[in-house]
Amino acid sequence: MKLKNKVAIITGSASGIGKATALLFAKEGARIVIADIGEKGRKVVEEINKNGKAIFVKCDVSKSNDVKNLINKTIKEFNSLDILINNAGIYLCKTIEEMSEEEWNRIININLKGVFLCSKYAIPHMKKSKGVIVNNASTLGLKAEPESPAYCASKAGIVNLTRSMAMEYAKYGIRINCVCPGPIDTPLFRNAFRNNKELKTYVNEHTIMKRPGKPEEVANVVLFLASNDSSYVIGSCYSVDGGEAL
Ligand SMILES: NC(=O)c1ccc[n+]([C@@H]2O[C@H](COP(=O)([O-])OP(=O)(O)OC[C@H]3O[C@@H](n4cnc5c(N)ncnc54)[C@H](O)[C@@H]3O)[C@@H](O)[C@H]2O)c1
Repeated sequence: MKLKNKVAIITGSASGIGKATALLFAKEGARIVIADIGEKGRKVVEEINKNGKAIFVKCDVSKSNDVKNLINKTIKEFNSLDILINNAGIYLCKTIEEMSEEEWNRIININLKGVFLCSKYAIPHMKKSKGVIVNNASTLGLKAEPESPAYCASKAGIVNLTRSMAMEYAKYGIRINCVCPGPIDTPLFRNAFRNNKELKTYVNEHTIMKRPGKPEEVANVVLFLASNDSSYVIGSCYSVDGGEAL
């Protein structure tokens, strides 16, 4: 077990990549905090609690009071915090002209400010535990596409925020890295397309492997970055994208 007795908060873990990460971390012995706006996070908790230990904390990562409550509840329940996976994120396909100011703010606040807030309130505890943070960026943080400017900006922001935080907190023994997934078969990805044909065309044109990834394939890399197997890795971006960013 690579994460035996570690305490891990995973944001956006009611679905998709976050859910796959939570299930994998639980198998590896971690105690899990499912942090999500969606009540279906409770179902993931039920699944984990058959063989492990998890709690659900309803949390909007863009709201500082929610995030403070998340960290407080985690410490109250488990008395420690070892791993933070900043995974929660949303996507919107609109050009600059189509996008309202509210939509821009919502994407930046959830995708980018959420990483800041969760890290801000987790790090004081992680200084004690010499913890690990893994941020979920995207290939769209390394390259761009025309119709999702706020998403691309938020994800590029995560990549450089990861590097800056990694440099700052290495002296406390905290390691910080990010993953950059390509097209992964989750509700977020499916909702970005009008139909299956459009989705398949995108995947064929954008990946070398000509298939979407599975959430579990990202979770495996997140596990590597969250475990001691990556003890000499900091400030890095691991692409998990079937070759999309090449
Ligand atoms: N699926 C892909 O192709 C892909 C590619 C690159 C990056 N990503 C990133 O991976 C992460 C997970 O996405 P996914 O594909 O698993 O999507 P998903 O929609 O399956 O899951 C996202 C989860 O985040 C939660 N969430 C949304 N807003 C939130 C908020 N304000 N606070 C807390 N939780 C919130 C949702 O309720 C949901 O459970 C996102 O950051 C996304 O940008 C996904």
